[in-house]
Amino acid sequence: MLTDYEKNCRSQLEKLRDKEDIIILALESSCDETACAITRGRKVLSSVVASQIEIHKRYGGVVPEIASRNHVMAVSQITSQALEEAGLKPDEIDCVAVTYGAGLLGALLVGVSFAKAYAYALKKPLIAVNHIRGHIAANYLAKPDLKPPYICLIASGGHTAVVKVDGLEDIKLLGSTQDDACGEAFDKVARVLGLEYPGGPQIQKLAREGKPAVNLPTPLKNSAGYDFSYSGLKTAVINYVHTKEQKGEEFSKADVARSFQDKAVEIMTDAAVRAAEDSGLKTIVIAGGVAANEKLREVMKQKAEKHGFDVYYPPLSLCTDNAAMIASEAYNLIRSGAEAASLTLEASATVKITDAKPRV
Ligand code: KG4
Ligand code: ZN
Repeated sequence: MLTDYEKNCRSQLEKLRDKEDIIILALESSCDETACAITRGRKVLSSVVASQIEIHKRYGGVVPEIASRNHVMAVSQITSQALEEAGLKPDEIDCVAVTYGAGLLGALLVGVSFAKAYAYALKKPLIAVNHIRGHIAANYLAKPDLKPPYICLIASGGHTAVVKVDGLEDIKLLGSTQDDACGEAFDKVARVLGLEYPGGPQIQKLAREGKPAVNLPTPLKNSAGYDFSYSGLKTAVINYVHTKEQKGEEFSKADVARSFQDKAVEIMTDAAVRAAEDSGLKTIVIAGGVAANEKLREVMKQKAEKHGFDVYYPPLSLCTDNAAMIASEAYNLIRSGAEAASLTLEASATVKITDAKPRV
């Protein structure tokens, strides 16, 4: 039996489905960023991100318990700030959206619990959003006239995949990493080179001074599909560094960073280009934290030009974790007829790219 609140949300969502300028307040707390954003249609009215990077740097990576505690301390204040920056009162929003997975369970729970209470108090529908699909949806904010079908390369700290986007909510997995995510490999290689967390931006910076002088393998090079692997590449870098250190031989960290970054980018971009060629699509979109990488953007552009494809990516602030992308995916869900999340919604540490809604 539906509660009065659930019945009310159902009828609100039915009306919102045909509205273009839906106002969404979204929350994101899957890792080490507490974020709240408000969007109207595809326009970002405010996007507040409270990063915990400075806190976790000391430990060389995210400490889940510390992340959860800091989300608790930040979530209420950043929500007020997002409303203030958007110039809106809470009852002026149409619905609340929240990341339910994938991510750190305790961290996700903070956003999910807060969003449930917030939506219920305002008597507004709650939309549960898959974080990975949120990364893809960031592209609709950057380019509101972007229309499926297109190929999307998603590369973040937890996921790396090539998908075919056939409709706002029609996403097919073509290939994915068989082991480490690309961002994870960037972070681990950075660690072995003595660089700070998060490793991606540090490797990028150091790579600018290096040459592609270190020979590294291309795992799964001759496989027919679009799968890739980052574990072998990461291990090759670690072995190279350890061997040099054990033998007391000099080596250039900048060359290692450059060679690793070049190879990591080659692996992903080759898979995306092959997927576009094979499917006859002319548009490639990139998404996720690693999409902030300057080499990835440059190489993707060069390869796209060579093959006559268009390539799009979000601005840096929409590549790494933020709540505006969660609002954008909630917009896709509402326009595609999704139902409101129940107040029994739970957080999920793992979700698949192909999950449009929580598996109950
Ligand atoms: O999407 P994201 O912010 O969080 C997850 O959903 O995982 O991605 C974080 C990952 C980290 O591994 C980080 O090192 C990587 O994105 N990253 C980068 C760059 N900026 C962030 N990797 C390479 N180059 C960058 N400029
Ligand atoms: Zn992310």
